[in-house]
Amino acid sequence: MASSASICSLLLIISSVLVCSYFGVSEAQPSVPLVKGLSWSFYESKCPKLESIVRKQLKKVFKKDIGQAAGLLRLHFHDCFVQGCDGSVLLEGSASGPSEQEAPPNLSLRAKAFEIINDLRETVHSKCGRVVSCADIVALAARDSVYLAGGPEYEVPLGRKDGLNFATRDVTLANLPAPTSNTTKLLTDLAKKNLDATDVVALSGGHTIGLSHCTSFTNRLYPTQDPSMDQTFANDLEEICPASDTNATTVLDIRSPDTFDNKYYVNLMNRQGLFTSDQDLYTDKRTRDIVTSFALNQTLFFEQFVHSMIKMGQLSVLTGSKGEIRADCSLRNPDNANYLRSVVKEDEESASEL
Ligand code: HEM
Ligand SMILES: *[C@@H]1O[C@H](CO)[C@@H](O)[C@H](O)[C@H]1NC(C)=O
Ligand SMILES: *[C@@H]1O[C@H](CO)[C@@H](O)[C@H](O)[C@H]1NC(C)=O
Ligand SMILES: *[C@@H]1O[C@H](CO)[C@@H](O)[C@H](O)[C@H]1NC(C)=O
Ligand SMILES: *[C@@H]1O[C@H](CO)[C@@H](O)[C@H](O)[C@H]1NC(C)=O
Repeated sequence: MASSASICSLLLIISSVLVCSYFGVSEAQPSVPLVKGLSWSFYESKCPKLESIVRKQLKKVFKKDIGQAAGLLRLHFHDCFVQGCDGSVLLEGSASGPSEQEAPPNLSLRAKAFEIINDLRETVHSKCGRVVSCADIVALAARDSVYLAGGPEYEVPLGRKDGLNFATRDVTLANLPAPTSNTTKLLTDLAKKNLDATDVVALSGGHTIGLSHCTSFTNRLYPTQDPSMDQTFANDLEEICPASDTNATTVLDIRSPDTFDNKYYVNLMNRQGLFTSDQDLYTDKRTRDIVTSFALNQTLFFEQFVHSMIKMGQLSVLTGSKGEIRADCSLRNPDNANYLRSVVKEDEESASEL
């Protein structure tokens, strides 16, 4: 009797450990509070295949060009920072959207990223009807970009609606941190978005993948090299980035340019950060220890990155009856009753095909 009772309690302990770790993984960071209107299971009945459609399609895209993962991650960041994560970055006329030709290199988002999002939207809407917002597709694409490039896998809360207007150039510039910012400026600016020093360091870790135009950092090379930059690194960059060439690009993370890992922080400890905004995180006493802790422990970085991304992904979202679900991610829906009726009918038809 005694032994079966102790086996029972042992089983109880084992099963509760299993249950806890199961929820730890599948509910992903329940410690981040959700804003009203977002949920972890928003499309569970409306579009149950959503996440697998996005994952499958992006796998194909990245097989051809893993560089697109960086473009998609940055797209979500810009979307969230400028007017909230409402897909407004995708609108034609937006300072960084599809038709904006005058964006300076420091704003340049990859043109292909917009195409990838609209392609995803097309597949999703053909399977489920027009029930999934472009803003949610951008958030999911960023999540999958991180994971498929080697980073952590995590759940994203969904239920965002698409915004009705785009940001002007001035609003865009005012909201995006400049690569020339020091840590003081970054901490002050991002605190306005409720992001603390740990969030700032973790989110900057997005620079573990992708490219930059030389023009985003040549102020650190010419006319004189920034003394906070490793000299060999600076000399190599001068080769890649002659002062006369405004088109040249280089990788953000010299150790592992296409892999989402913690090497970005190792670069910073070796004075091989590309932007002032990167390198100063290691120079500044307030953020230095956070950089070191991420460089030493990738698991810690991954956990914090997920936490900070979920926070960033909820900035000024539109939910419920606010905003709309765009039929084309680059255009507002036309305000036309006939058009809306036909779209609803299409939705019902494609929904019934499921
Ligand atoms: C903290 C302030 C930040 C600054 C000052 C900053 C600045 C920049 C700049 C100047 C570029 C290069 C653009 C170009 O010249 O082509 C860039 C690229 C990139 N940024 Fe940031 N960024 C910041 C935060 C973030 C965050 C939060 C993420 C995502 C979590 C992110 C992800 C990326 C990625 C993935 C690229 C490469 C894009 C590509 O290859 O197409 N950045 N960033
Ligand atoms: C981008 O670069 C232009 C000059 O090329 C500058 O006027 C602008 O302030 C920069 N903006 C950001 C966000 O870095
Ligand atoms: C940080 O940059 C701001 C301007 O953006 C400047 O006023 C300040 O002096 C700089 N701080 C340090 C420590 O360099
Ligand atoms: C930069 O790219 C543009 C457009 O592709 C091209 O016209 C120009 O010649 C290039 N400049 C340099 C210095 O390569
Ligand atoms: C690394 O961070 C993880 C997550 O916080 C923690 O569980 C682990 O103990 C850390 N590892 C070391 C060697 O400090």
